[in-house]
This record gives sequence, C-alpha cells and structure tokens, in this order.
Amino acid sequence: MNILVIGGGGREHAVIKTLKKSPLCGKVWCLPGNGGIAADAECVPVKATDLSAIAEFAKSHPVDFAVVTPDDPLVLGCVDLLEGLGIPCFGPEKKAAIIEGSKVFSKNLMKKYGIPTADSMEFSDPMSAISYLKGCQYPTVIKADGLALGKGAVIVNSFAEAEETVRRMMVEKVFGESGSRILVEEFLTGPEVSVLSFTDGKTVVPMVSSMDHKRALDGDEGLNTGGMGTVAPNPYFTPEVAAECMEKIFLPTVHAMNAEGRTFKGCLYFGLMLTPAGPKVIEYNCRFGDPETQVVLPLLESDLLEIMLAVRNGTLTADMVRFSAAYACCVVLASRGYPQKYETGFPITLPACGEGEEIFVAGARKEGETLLSAGGRVLGAVATGKTLQEAVDAAYALADGVHFENAYCRRDIGARALRAAK
Ligand code: AMP
Ligand code: GLY
Repeated sequence: MNILVIGGGGREHAVIKTLKKSPLCGKVWCLPGNGGIAADAECVPVKATDLSAIAEFAKSHPVDFAVVTPDDPLVLGCVDLLEGLGIPCFGPEKKAAIIEGSKVFSKNLMKKYGIPTADSMEFSDPMSAISYLKGCQYPTVIKADGLALGKGAVIVNSFAEAEETVRRMMVEKVFGESGSRILVEEFLTGPEVSVLSFTDGKTVVPMVSSMDHKRALDGDEGLNTGGMGTVAPNPYFTPEVAAECMEKIFLPTVHAMNAEGRTFKGCLYFGLMLTPAGPKVIEYNCRFGDPETQVVLPLLESDLLEIMLAVRNGTLTADMVRFSAAYACCVVLASRGYPQKYETGFPITLPACGEGEEIFVAGARKEGETLLSAGGRVLGAVATGKTLQEAVDAAYALADGVHFENAYCRRDIGARALRAAK
C-alpha cells in the first residue's frame, strides 16, 4: 500500500519508520516532511495546513491510505476532505477533532459525562474574566480555547499575572481567535502521565504510557516547550491506575463522543494528572503526542499499519496491539534559546545507530548531502533498554554523539521516573 503522511516533525519520522516495518507498506510520501525524514520517505514541500494542495497531491498520486498526524490539519478537516476523495485515512474527522480544537468543548463534554477533570469557568469577554480572577485562589490556570502551538495554558501566580494573561489572550489576541474564549481552571497537583490510545469508536486500546518533560531547563525550570524528552513506560501509571483510568476516563470519553454524534477514530491522547483525589484529565489531544510517539512506537511489537487500518475500518481488537516489556527514552536536542529566540542553519553530524537506537529528526533541512538545523527542536535521540536506567544511559550516549553548533538538551530526562521507580 502506498501511504501519504501529513506532517513534518520527529513524531512523523517515528510514525514513518514504524509503518515501514510493515510488510504491507509500499511507497511513503510525507507532506511536508523534513531533511531527516527524506531518508525514509519522499518529502514534498506542501504545508500540512494547505488542504487544497494536499487534496491536489492526493488526487494526482496513487495513494492507498493517508495518515494525518498534526492537530491543525485534523481540526481543519483534512480527514473529511481525503475520505471524500475516496482515500481511507487514519485520524479523526473534523467533528471529532474538536476534542482538542476547543478546550471549552472538551471541558463541557467532561462535565456532562462525569469524566474527572479540573473545575473551571468559561469566559468570552475580558472584563468578566478579570472580575472573576480578582476573587480567585492562586496559582490558577488560564487556557485559550483553541489551538495555540502548545502555549495556550498559562499557570498564573497572582491577580496581576492573571490580568496580564487575559489581556494578552483576549485583547492583544496573541493566539488569534483561539483566545477569544478562555477557561479559568483550578490548579491541580500530582504526577503527569501521557496515555496515547488507539480507538475505532467502539474499542479503545491504550498504548504503553509515557512521561513528557515540557519545561526547557533541568529540574523542570524555564519555559514550557513542545517537549524536551520522554520516557516510557511511566512508572506512576501502575496497573491499578490504568484500570481506574480505563473505567472512569478512557471508555467514558469514547462513549461520550459517540453519544454526541462525534465518533472518534484515530489516536486519542489523554493528558492526565494523578491528583490526590484520583486521576483527572488535563487535556485531550486528537493525535499522537510529540515527543511521546518517539518512545511509544519503538516499543510496539505489532504491525502499526494493520492497527491503523483496523482503526479506520472499525475492526480494532485489543490483541492487535502488543508492546514489549522494555523501556525507552528520548532526549530532544534543541537549538540553544528555544522556545524563544534561536539560530538555525548549522550542519548536523549524526552518530551511527546501534540495535534499539533511533534518531528521529524534527527540525532540519537538506542542502546537498548536508543536514542543517532548521527549527527549535532539531531531533530526538531515542534508545530502548531492558531497564529504564539502561534506556536513559543509551539515549544520552546517542545524544552525545550528535553534533551541531548551539545544540542544547536537558540532562535530566528520565530522572524523575527513575526516582519514582525506586
Ligand atoms: P495543556 O496545554 O492543557 O496540556 O497544559 C500544559 C501544561 O500545563 C500541562 O502539561 C500541565 O503541566 C500544566 N497544566 C495544565 N492544566 C493544569 C491544571 N489544571 N493544573 C495544573 N497544571 C496544569
Ligand atoms: N507532548 C505533548 C503534545 O504532543 O501535545
């Protein structure tokens, strides 16, 4: 089967490398892809949000199956468009992708169906938000309703910070229309767990759990980023917690979406916080997480393409999805200064990957035979191991073999998980 993958980051690189292990997989195109993905797929410079160009490409190439990976094309209706052209897709339709596209929608869904989440208030005008925030306890959390490149959730520690955040979101519109509605949410505490799942709208099969490291600096200091590294599995996600989440969160969410006439098919991502009062949903994503995918897929033992086809066709069963009992760690190498100002365009040298090691490229372009840095997050160095310590050590050894000027990585990816496991 010839496969079209939409997207161009480290997550897409991991998806493509995993799809290519399938005996069913033929040619792979990636729109737009990147200079690293070009080693594994034919990359075509079409933006993931340019739906009409994607449709043109799909019509003029023998595409048998499409995998739409990023949030924005999903929320814009890329799957509806391609399915309308007769191309089967992995990914939710627009009406289901709203579970990530609108935090107000997902909050109301959780309230209506009794799915545990942080208490919150919704506002569509800045004056009432500010007057409510005067009487709030701090810290509290302010979230833009729509997509905001992962930067739409702000933890504020005082009324002054809250007022400033409301102004930026609702008046200056730093996230555009995404900030025209906001949620003010109760601040929760506890370890965070990412659980990606496959669902065809009937069956939901969680993948191995993982832990993201969102802050830019060691010790969870600095600004929030798209993710500086991950480990899997997440030691906090014990079998007891998993059973509770299945009963109170995963199944109820899939059923709630069906009841709303918004059947979700694809990868449904549960961002959870294990609070003293039990697991609660922090966010839903309508897609694979980045960089969670980079540690989850290397542990998948079964055929990703078969699973994706079953999700599309409504024939998913739990026994199709098998994970190894091993561990994985991804260390992200970023350009120094990310997530703020940084320089790019530096030549990258990559080490050879041994058994259980992978480099998934996120932000790089090819110039002749040279790979040049081209983004904030440049690549992920991923290794698996029989223990978490082995995986972490191997991922850092691999990361230390990558060279480009101004490369930066956190040195403590996995440290919290290792402490928890002890
Ligand atoms: P989100 O964009 O909703 O995933 O939020 C980004 C990050 O903000 C999460 O990974 C949490 O670390 C933090 N966060 C979001 N909501 C809350 C909350 N209600 N309480 C505490 N932290 C939160
Ligand atoms: N790593 C978090 C996300 O993909 O949204």
